Amino acid sequence: MLKNQEIRFERNAGKVGWRSPSNIAIVKYWGKFGLQFPQNPSFSFTLNNAHTETLIDWSHKKEKGLDFDFLFEGKKETSFEAKIEKYFKLILKDFPFLENVSMKINSKNSFPHSSGIASSASAMSALALCVCSMEKEITGNQLNDNALLERASYFARLGSGSACRSVFPSGAIWGSSSVIDESSNEFAIPWGHKLHAKFLNFHDDILIISKKEKSVSSRAGHALMETNKYAEIRFKEARERLVELVKILEEGDVEAFGVLAEAEAMSLHALMMMSNPSYILMKGNTLAAIEKIKSFRQTSGLPIYYTLDAGPNIHLLYPDVIKGDVSTFTENQLRSLCEDGKIINDHVGQGPINLC
Ligand code: DP6
Repeated sequence: MLKNQEIRFERNAGKVGWRSPSNIAIVKYWGKFGLQFPQNPSFSFTLNNAHTETLIDWSHKKEKGLDFDFLFEGKKETSFEAKIEKYFKLILKDFPFLENVSMKINSKNSFPHSSGIASSASAMSALALCVCSMEKEITGNQLNDNALLERASYFARLGSGSACRSVFPSGAIWGSSSVIDESSNEFAIPWGHKLHAKFLNFHDDILIISKKEKSVSSRAGHALMETNKYAEIRFKEARERLVELVKILEEGDVEAFGVLAEAEAMSLHALMMMSNPSYILMKGNTLAAIEKIKSFRQTSGLPIYYTLDAGPNIHLLYPDVIKGDVSTFTENQLRSLCEDGKIINDHVGQGPINLC
């Protein structure tokens, strides 16, 4: 390994870049221990349209020390810069070359920053992928594509837990499960190849109920699980649900999928309400939208379901075959519940793209 050795640069300068998507968890990660290890395994669909693009121009420098400029959508963003510096310091022992480069980092999101969509999964996975690509350019290591993705997943996890799942196409599992070979708390494993065709083009329309920053961050929410009386029951429930879900995903049972996805969303938000202090991230319009989705499902008989992440916005999940009906329903009944009528239409996607 390179640790404690003189770093030999294969080149003096280079450029790396990745576009990496967001993801939506169906079985949720909620509660962690140690250095970003999850208390239970989770599964997410990798999305497509909601993504971050990060480019790093690097050049070798002799004097040691972190040295980078960070521009977000062309502008200096000091709060992001501080997060990146913290992240680089955390991974420095594994990527010692970071102290021997000057970096110009440019990053942008496909969705507005204040749209209420969490960007940590796409942002941290894009950054981790860039660091792993830089390592490859600088050290000349021979990591093949799969090994690079696994390494990026490991280091994305250190930036934000859910980010480790974003590096794989279609879907990924993160967290060890006794019934899933190779599953690990350290990195996610690809699960796209196990999905029934019905799920490969599943839709996720994100109804932006509120663009405001959440009152309690995910980080704080995870921490509150440490004193939540229902935590152990929850971790057991999630482990069991993951076992159920992998079977459902393989068999293509869309109805069972929807029942499980909604139950998970409710469990997540129930845990928030049962935390000490208790808090609620859903808004009035979140509940109104849920009512409408349920009643439309009942009257139309169509397989349309929802999930929530740690916020008020609704992820509308449905198979491609019903997209016409869903679009009419959404326009007539859901758009008016969204802040400024904002909906982000997304779907299961092919994972990160190397931009350089
Ligand atoms: C509800 O990954 O955002 O979206 O690891 O502290 O960055 P940190 O938390 P984060 O938590 C995601 C929580 C969730 C569920 C999930 O994506 O599995």
